[in-house]
Amino acid sequence: MLPILLPTPQEENTAYKTQVSRNANIAKLEAGYLFPEIARRRAEHSQKYPDAQVISLGTGNTTEPIPEVITSAMAKKAHALSTLEGYSGYGAEQGEKLLRASIASTFYDNLGIVEDEIFVSDGAKCDISRLQVVFGSNVTMAVQDPSYPAYVDLSVIMGQTGQYQKDVEKFRNIEYMRCTPENDIIFFCSPNNPTGSAATREQLTQLVQFAKENGSIIVYDSAYAMYMSDDNPRSIFEIPGAKEIAIETSSFSKYAGFTGVRLGWTVVPKQLLFSDGFPVAKDFNRIVCTCFNGASNISQAGGLACLAPTGLKAMREVIGYYKKNAEIIVETFESLGFKVYGGKNAPFVWVHFPGRSSWDVFSEILEKTHVVTMPGSGFGPGGEGFVRVSAFGHRKNVLEACERFKQLYNI
Ligand SMILES: Cc1ncc(COP(=O)(O)O)c(C=O)c1O
Repeated sequence: MLPILLPTPQEENTAYKTQVSRNANIAKLEAGYLFPEIARRRAEHSQKYPDAQVISLGTGNTTEPIPEVITSAMAKKAHALSTLEGYSGYGAEQGEKLLRASIASTFYDNLGIVEDEIFVSDGAKCDISRLQVVFGSNVTMAVQDPSYPAYVDLSVIMGQTGQYQKDVEKFRNIEYMRCTPENDIIFFCSPNNPTGSAATREQLTQLVQFAKENGSIIVYDSAYAMYMSDDNPRSIFEIPGAKEIAIETSSFSKYAGFTGVRLGWTVVPKQLLFSDGFPVAKDFNRIVCTCFNGASNISQAGGLACLAPTGLKAMREVIGYYKKNAEIIVETFESLGFKVYGGKNAPFVWVHFPGRSSWDVFSEILEKTHVVTMPGSGFGPGGEGFVRVSAFGHRKNVLEACERFKQLYNI
């Protein structure tokens, strides 16, 4: 039998290389994207403990089936595509008229947002990338610290930032949390991922006022708005004056389990203008038409079913299920004496481990309980000392994970 020849590092160096230089902005990204890194560590753990029942309360992937009323509409659409009458090819890049109208009336009723200000997409993350393409490389941005990693990573890729500064764990030219007059674009997520906290009406009013005085644009991520229990705004457009300074992006991913189906939307009000008076919506439309060919027609049929009365009811049940999981996780950590945030208005529980490194706690929990969580510092330096526990999981797994947490931390 011939031996398997693995290339030595030297041979790798002499491998054929193209003449194309690497995008220097992508090279700035330090340790790779957080979620693949977690997946890598999980795989390593499973190799080490092949018999362990690993429970994932980490990346925040949905686990519960999509309600029948929604999948049956998608199945019907899929079958119709096999008929002459039901076939359709490319659709409008901005999404189907009926779905745009339905999103406007369901989520922005009485807020003055109309159908042609809604751009249907293949998800909020994809829209965040397209928005960054619209803004280009000559803007600076501010993010909440900690925040959903895509905002920072895409800003780096677009060349809006300087190099990564290892000592402070920040990229140069990004404002982490503090919003100063130099910032053009402010990414703001409420209820926030990873902390699970929601901004109050007063806080959002202040944010809108700040953006207006400063001439900034807020990109408001409302991917978890339907999880809100408190009387906080579900949309930035509930705040007077927000249409002149804000864009809102959202998604069906965490409402209906569409993480794999892919469907979201972005609202770009007509009143939102660049400094030269040009409408932001026109440039966004241009980017959508250039980089994207419209959301899948099957997903859009699913989206319409989500917003029919039966679909809305079914979505609320799915959300209620995850909210109950969150409640169980909150109760568990509180009973163990931890200070816990979130869980009430979002499917994330943010647990404080004062004085400890997030990655150390993440590793300790994985090693001793076989439960995957998320290290808070992966979401920004402000997340150090915290771990995010996701409420996306089957109930029996959440209960089992909580039992294991109790065994580990019950003193
Ligand atoms: C705050 C936030 N925004 C956007 C997304 C991405 O959503 P989508 O699946 O629609 O791309 C997520 C997904 O976890 C998220 O947490």
